[in-house]
Amino acid sequence: MKKVLTYGTFDLLHFGHVNLLKRAKALGDYLIVGLSTDEFNDGKNKQAYHSFDNRKMILESISFVDEVIPENTWDQKVKDVIKHEVDVFVMGNDWEGRFDFLKEYCEVIYLPRTIGISTSKIKKDLKIVENG
Ligand code: CTP
Repeated sequence: MKKVLTYGTFDLLHFGHVNLLKRAKALGDYLIVGLSTDEFNDGKNKQAYHSFDNRKMILESISFVDEVIPENTWDQKVKDVIKHEVDVFVMGNDWEGRFDFLKEYCEVIYLPRTIGISTSKIKKDLKIVENG
């Protein structure tokens, strides 16, 4: 069984996220998503609209996702790769090169982001509609 691991906040789930998850799953048999906790996001000054529990529930309902684990810190990745016997680590190419240190433990792949969509864009666009 080939295991794939990716990380993210996946707030206000959109088609860019689904494209990423679909392509990540296609690289193996079992997809694990490390989902940023609300506390971890606080530390990054990033606030998700949906709580961790709700983002987790939404992700678990996606057919490509087999397991969701919490992402609590920046430096848990090596431990997660070893513990979950991960074969492929995947991120969008906005992170290109940032996780190359994992190549010692597994394959590392950066997938092209879907153009024209992001959680930040949705938040910004909805604000304009609300105010307009
Ligand atoms: N992603 C993608 N294409 C997009 C948006 C996100 O492939 N258009 C990928 C990211 O590269 C990452 C994963 O989806 O691997 C989770 O990204 P996340 O940061 O949660 O989503 P964003 O929409 O980028 O959120 P934000 O605008 O808050 O940065």
